[in-house]
Amino acid sequence: MQEFAGSHILSVNDFDRSHVERIFAVADHMEPYARRRRMTKVLDGAILGSMFFEPSTRTRVSFGSAFNLLGGEVRETTGFESSAIAKGESLYDTARVLSGYSDVIAMRHPAEGSVAEFAAASRVPVINGGDGSNEHPSQALLDLYTIKSELASRHRGIDTLRIAMVGDLRHGRTVHSLCKLLCLFDDVQVVLVSPDELKMPGEIVEAMRSAGHIVKESDTLESSISNVDIVYSTRIQEERFQSAEEADLYRGRFRLNQAVYTSHCEPNTVIMHPLPRDSRDNARELDDDLNDNPNLAIFRQTDNGVLVRMALFVLILDVVGDVHKHARDVNWYTAGRFQ
Ligand code: CP
Repeated sequence: MQEFAGSHILSVNDFDRSHVERIFAVADHMEPYARRRRMTKVLDGAILGSMFFEPSTRTRVSFGSAFNLLGGEVRETTGFESSAIAKGESLYDTARVLSGYSDVIAMRHPAEGSVAEFAAASRVPVINGGDGSNEHPSQALLDLYTIKSELASRHRGIDTLRIAMVGDLRHGRTVHSLCKLLCLFDDVQVVLVSPDELKMPGEIVEAMRSAGHIVKESDTLESSISNVDIVYSTRIQEERFQSAEEADLYRGRFRLNQAVYTSHCEPNTVIMHPLPRDSRDNARELDDDLNDNPNLAIFRQTDNGVLVRMALFVLILDVVGDVHKHARDVNWYTAGRFQ
């Protein structure tokens, strides 16, 4: 990718380090708008086509909120049953039609490569909101932005990061994209904790090793989280298994709770998760008893998702320099919401 303006965001493979740093710098500037201290109408008249063919809370709503906070409007399609795809329409035709109604499209689809196929037919930029087990680029960007923010207070950066990724690393698209992004940084140490059947794909492990990172694989939680800056927990991706019973074989295998954290983690180890976490009794990969732990960053991640998605929109629609021109202060009550 040469320039952001007019570009699709389909895979983190399209980024170099300068792209990531540019997105983060613009995201920093979105902070007063995302935190409701200022409002802008820079995207007044623009339309986001939001097309989510798999369940989503965070990605769908935060893309929509980010666009609204920039003054634009959102048109949503949720689920195949509310789309003419249910009547046999192809992705090509859907893309040609929807790109006539929208200025940019955010899309989630269960099939790997489907968002890229859609983008090839679209006449407007398309952002991949998750395509099967493949990629989730905006999630990886917000995760890395959160890592950067959390470590800044410790005078650390992403270079030399020590991170443990835990859970369903085979199907988890967020960890696939995050590992690829980490390849753009230096001297990272990664511990990949999963059941043998749910290991990180070999080509991603090889890419990290080729980038000079130290990568270890393990099937034991406790010994893997003792010397890391970040524990990044993930859910068993039930929707990628043949049956719920097959997913049950792995659910609950790795449970991070306050007792495990206290016994095994360094003080102030940051706890992350892309969410949703599975809070059912047979899962609990990230226990609710961590909710008052100040190092639990999961809701700072979700807040940061708005900043990062606002940054993507103003970069893709080429209005970074105009955001402040279309801005004014807001006066409504926001105390205590953003801490
Ligand atoms: N992290 C994430 O993609 O969450 P949603 O499935 O709720 O969008």
